[in-house]
Amino acid sequence: MEPSFEFLEKMPSGKRIEHLSQDKNIPEAEILDLFQAAFRGGGGSLLPVNERWILWSSDKLIGHAGVQRRWFVVKDKYFEGWLLGGICINPDFQGKGLANILIKKVLSDLAQKELDFAILCCDEEKLVSFYKRFGFIKISDSALYLENGKLEKVDGDRTMVISFAQGFDAEVLRTDPFPFGFDFCWGRG
Ligand SMILES: CC(C)(COP(=O)(O)OP(=O)(O)OC[C@H]1O[C@@H](n2cnc3c(N)ncnc32)[C@H](O)[C@@H]1OP(=O)(O)O)[C@@H](O)C(=O)NCCC(=O)NCCS
Repeated sequence: MEPSFEFLEKMPSGKRIEHLSQDKNIPEAEILDLFQAAFRGGGGSLLPVNERWILWSSDKLIGHAGVQRRWFVVKDKYFEGWLLGGICINPDFQGKGLANILIKKVLSDLAQKELDFAILCCDEEKLVSFYKRFGFIKISDSALYLENGKLEKVDGDRTMVISFAQGFDAEVLRTDPFPFGFDFCWGRG
């Protein structure tokens, strides 16, 4: 049986998710304000993405998730997948199940597309159990990033992967540290 990511969540009243496929006419100031509030001390820039999902509560932007389409080189093999980043909910709206709804919508939309997996990094163990609820598995306890043009900055970000295709075993990406290359995490801005 194919993994199922149909989006069946009920949106709370007054909330809506907007899906933006191109980085044109985006509410940049509102997204940056959200990053400032959600990623303490970070999030000072709007990194480019291929797709973005933003969550509105009436006319206030309260949630965000983005993906970049990326090649990853793992044990000398190339894998193309989605790199998920900038997942956040305004602190005033956290703990109400909104990230749960937003992430399920993102995964449901990505599962309709042609790539086999999505990958993300998270710096807190608490987030590992959060992402496991959606079907992500942890494949690494540290991450490798580019710094000064060299792939040698290692930090403690856990790497998690979800597969959208029955024929794709996310275990093939297991390697520690996981080579992310360009750093896509807003939290350290
Ligand atoms: C991580 C983050 C996105 C979660 O957002 P959230 O909207 O609070 O998440 P949810 O409400 O969907 O789930 C969080 C908790 O609320 C609980 N919850 C779910 N539905 C709920 C509801 N209807 N009412 C109250 N609580 C609920 C969940 O069970 C979960 O409980 P937990 O404490 O056991 O984990 C948010 O905390 C955040 O923006 N953090 C800062 C940025 C960040 O670290 N992003 C992740 C980068 S990898």
